Amino acid sequence: MTQDDMKKAAAQAALEYVGSGGVIGVGTGSTANYFIDALATIKGRIDGAVASSNATAERLKKYGIPVVDLNATGSLKLYVDGADEATRHLHLIKGGGGALTREKIIAAASETFVCVADETKLADVLGKFPLPIEVIPMARSYVAREIVKLGGEPVLRQGFTTDNGNVILDVYNLNILNPVELERTLNQIAGAVTNGLFAHRPADVLILGTKTGVQTLK
Ligand code: 5RP
Repeated sequence: MTQDDMKKAAAQAALEYVGSGGVIGVGTGSTANYFIDALATIKGRIDGAVASSNATAERLKKYGIPVVDLNATGSLKLYVDGADEATRHLHLIKGGGGALTREKIIAAASETFVCVADETKLADVLGKFPLPIEVIPMARSYVAREIVKLGGEPVLRQGFTTDNGNVILDVYNLNILNPVELERTLNQIAGAVTNGLFAHRPADVLILGTKTGVQTLK
């Protein structure tokens, strides 16, 4: 069983959470892509999807799934997305694909956030994966200095611009023993648009593809 097989199995299992009618939120990345592929097989069941990135919007459209503006939907029943790291408390690091800002907005606007991932993403403590922070370009150096004060080592993601026209700092060596507190602290840095900690609004369900089958944590 490869990592991709485990991602696919988790993505497939998330179909169970897709109700009839309404619009759902769809995330970004390879596991979210597998979810879109699976969703296409039952696309008649939903009215459309809110996409967390331009790439996801393109994939949804390719399957003929209507892409809807979040401003037109009210709150969403369901959001399905991947993660770079997840704990058993369902706290996440996201943003490896650079779509963290729209992902955090959709997660906040959704009643149920189902995170789909393979077992390699499960961690006792967050932080082995560098924490992505989306930053307004003119604030890059300032935000980097503030992060150094917090003990992190920020590295500019080279050659990458987000869908919102911003840059990403990937922060190494942060001590993330209290993800809720750190998320709040990082949110106070002027010019930092979004940090990749999803702790204030964690996942509600974590579907993990493992070598021995799919496991669901709630
Ligand atoms: C994108 C994300 C992704 O969910 C995260 O990077 C996981 O990606 P993958 O499913 O390809 O492992 O947060 O911004």
